[in-house]
Amino acid sequence: MEIKHIVKERLREHPGRLEHVLGVNDEAIALAKRYGIDEDRVSIAALLHDIAKKMTLEELRKYMVLGGFDQSVHPKTWHAYVGAYLATEEFQIIDEDILEAIRVHTTGHPVMSPVSEILFVADFIERRTRDFPGVQRLRELAYQDLNACICYKLNHLITQIAEPHPDTVAAYEVYKEYCQIAK
Ligand SMILES: [Fe+2]
Ligand SMILES: [Fe+2]
Repeated sequence: MEIKHIVKERLREHPGRLEHVLGVNDEAIALAKRYGIDEDRVSIAALLHDIAKKMTLEELRKYMVLGGFDQSVHPKTWHAYVGAYLATEEFQIIDEDILEAIRVHTTGHPVMSPVSEILFVADFIERRTRDFPGVQRLRELAYQDLNACICYKLNHLITQIAEPHPDTVAAYEVYKEYCQIAK
């Protein structure tokens, strides 16, 4: 696929990041198969989701301005907004589900399309570089109950980050019931 080739070229000097992106791509396609979601759209979102991750803060700031994005959110989330911007500007992606999935992949959002939900989970549990206590259980859970896995990631973000993004807090309010179901 053309996009995969370009992303591989762009991340050639960042092998760890490339491994992560390819891991997210594999996981997202497998989840799309499991849940009957269009694999091609999920794969495009996965391949492009961290396209802006290695930019400097100044570069990111430039694109945040160009895209008209709110700069008051935590700079760690900027690459998601800039990634969605570049997906359109450089890769001519206009599919709103793909763009939304890239935009919300670090924070989550109270209203997520299936493409966004799959990317949000795949980014957390991909098998090439992600390693943290409980990840194996979450990998199993993702294929049994996607909402529960989303809930656990949101809970992780809220408890690990001092000032979670407002979208993360709002998303947790929507998905929190699924954590309880999975217990
Ligand atoms: Fe990211
Ligand atoms: Fe990522």
